[in-house]
Amino acid sequence: MNATMLLEKTKHHPVMLDQVLSIISPQRGGTFIDCTFGGGGYSQAILKFPGTKVLAIDRDKLTQKYANSLEKKFPKRFNFFQEKFSNLHKVVKQNLNPRAVIFDLGLSSFQLSDKERGFSFESKNSLNMEMGINKYSAYDVINNLDKEYLATIIKILGDEKDGKIIANKIDQYRSKKPIKTSQELASIINNAKKNYNKYKKNPATKTFQAIRIFVNQELTELILGLIGAAKLLSNEGILIVVSFHSLEDQIVKNFFNLYSNLRKNPSRYLPIKETKSSLFQLVSKKLLRPDVKEIKENIRSRSAKLRYAIRNNNSFFYPSEFKNKFANYFKLEGGRI
Ligand SMILES: C[S@@+](CC[C@H](N)C(=O)[O-])C[C@H]1O[C@@H](n2cnc3c(N)ncnc32)[C@H](O)[C@@H]1O
Repeated sequence: MNATMLLEKTKHHPVMLDQVLSIISPQRGGTFIDCTFGGGGYSQAILKFPGTKVLAIDRDKLTQKYANSLEKKFPKRFNFFQEKFSNLHKVVKQNLNPRAVIFDLGLSSFQLSDKERGFSFESKNSLNMEMGINKYSAYDVINNLDKEYLATIIKILGDEKDGKIIANKIDQYRSKKPIKTSQELASIINNAKKNYNKYKKNPATKTFQAIRIFVNQELTELILGLIGAAKLLSNEGILIVVSFHSLEDQIVKNFFNLYSNLRKNPSRYLPIKETKSSLFQLVSKKLLRPDVKEIKENIRSRSAKLRYAIRNNNSFFYPSEFKNKFANYFKLEGGRI
């Protein structure tokens, strides 16, 4: 079975694909950058339009098999790089002038369902959680990170009010023996969370999110990815981001506000004017959500949020507020283990 057939068989649902296509209009042709190739759903849909080229990136080496299949099918119009999107500038020529740069953040359904990767609570395999090209694994973090730091990570990156209690339980356990599997970690967290039955989601959900974000430095990646995309785009190029949790969405929202035409508009009753100090035109401040039909067909899409903005020709710059807005995320994820 080739990778395209594999994709169809595993019922891969690219999230908010119809909205993405209607924003980037691939029927007009041009070059598109898919920063989160995954199972190749977006790339494949764009390449169906004859005048298009796609340059795709993914940090996960297991996505290479899907990329190989598209490379075979579209040898002149598709290129793939196994790379982190924070390194966009290393794989894309600065004068490429893409029509759009697209991010569909988080994990693919393939990564989530692969028990060996350790992203799921039931995984009896090693506590890994690496998307690819990582400095450390979840095993390293859970077993070695300073207890107070671990509590902060769980609290902030997981939005978990019981961060301290959970970090204490983890610390007690690991002082006797190392925590080796995701299942073991989930059960320690379940023990730490009181009133277990009251929770609709697995009580370990927020802690797992926090550890996964930290292991993959997802927020730092996102900020550097957005900067890279903003530097690359010009001339009505579109920056489009689909995110899945509030920390990511907050970063995208702040980034767009910082660089957009809306920033200096004194009143919402006045027409939106482009200022010299903007890089993007925000068509709307509102985010887009999947429709009910999509959520019914693919429950994973329920938390998706799409934001996009259109680049002008002003040169890239760092606004004075940039550091204030984003430095804390770098600090939080940059901690040593
Ligand atoms: C939600 S999936 C994308 C699904 C894709 N749009 C599709 O239609 O098949 C996210 C993908 O982004 C990749 N990814 C996440 N963070 C990344 C990063 N910083 N650099 C490169 N790839 C990343 C993951 O490995 C995963 O394969």
